[in-house]
Amino acid sequence: MRVLLFGASGQVGTALRQQLYGRVELLALDHSQLDLADTGAVTSQILSYKPGLVINAAAYTAVDQAESEPVQAQRINAQAPAVMAEAVAHLGSWLFHYSTDYVFDGQAQRPYTEQDTVAPLSVYGRSKLAGEQAISELGSRYLIFRTSWVYAATGRNFLVTMRRLAGERETLQVVDDQWGGPTTALALADLTVALQQRLDAGLLTAADSGIYQATCAGKTTWCRFARAIFAESGLHHVQVEPVPTSAYPTAAHRPAYSVLDNRRLFQSFGLSMPSWREALKTCLERNDSS
Ligand SMILES: NC(=O)c1ccc[n+]([C@@H]2O[C@H](COP(=O)([O-])OP(=O)(O)OC[C@H]3O[C@@H](n4cnc5c(N)ncnc54)[C@H](OP(=O)(O)O)[C@@H]3O)[C@@H](O)[C@H]2O)c1
Repeated sequence: MRVLLFGASGQVGTALRQQLYGRVELLALDHSQLDLADTGAVTSQILSYKPGLVINAAAYTAVDQAESEPVQAQRINAQAPAVMAEAVAHLGSWLFHYSTDYVFDGQAQRPYTEQDTVAPLSVYGRSKLAGEQAISELGSRYLIFRTSWVYAATGRNFLVTMRRLAGERETLQVVDDQWGGPTTALALADLTVALQQRLDAGLLTAADSGIYQATCAGKTTWCRFARAIFAESGLHHVQVEPVPTSAYPTAAHRPAYSVLDNRRLFQSFGLSMPSWREALKTCLERNDSS
């Protein structure tokens, strides 16, 4: 099957590139090769390559910076996915896309389902929601994976930042009143490839189109996640002190609780994701052995 991947150098894009290599006919493009702000180029690329599947792992992900760049965030996170959905519908192909827990306001007392009311608190969350809505309106064959707190052993993310800070300090203060599901790029790529294989085997139909929440199982806070990172990394010298979100004001507001319920994924495809703690161990082991 011919697959076109956007965002090939991001966390999820990198994991996907590694896993799809040799399994499919893959054209993987990063930002330097195609700027999603050029929506005409996005359409031309899809129509000329004629992939059976487009995977969009590219996004404007600078959550705080988006507050001062709403037009750019909207262009990359909403307008580009909209033209992807249109071009893919024209070809009769499929679009796999990623969205975020930040479409919710974080006031829930139990994990959010796909049917729960969305109410993003930030420019980033609103732009990602607009992307979901555009694909749902314009696309006919698509899967949107709503995920959260994505990280990998390399790149710009919480795990890498915490391990760097462990080399510089003995005590760290980390927010302990935001709850969510840390999710590895690897686990998300595994899930995506499982669905690509299902598609290749003719087992996905237009009726499967929709939003599916896809996070590593369980929940934690940033503070507890940091402690787990240090425990699994053998960095026992670091003390992690819990602090409230108010101790670290940021440009964008984040949901206090954004745990996602993944049951639809299991009920529809029999697929589930590892627990966040298991996925953390796997991420660190793979990095140490590479
Ligand atoms: N990271 C998270 O915590 C998180 C949480 C929930 C959902 N998600 C979603 O999961 C998906 C994958 O995220 P990720 O963590 O892999 O993000 P990431 O590591 O930030 O990767 C995003 C990629 O998009 C590229 N990109 C940005 N602007 C672009 C443009 N104008 N044209 C082409 N490419 C552009 C970036 O390239 P440059 O770096 O070269 O600009 C980067 O390689 C995204 O849809 C994201 O919204 C992420």
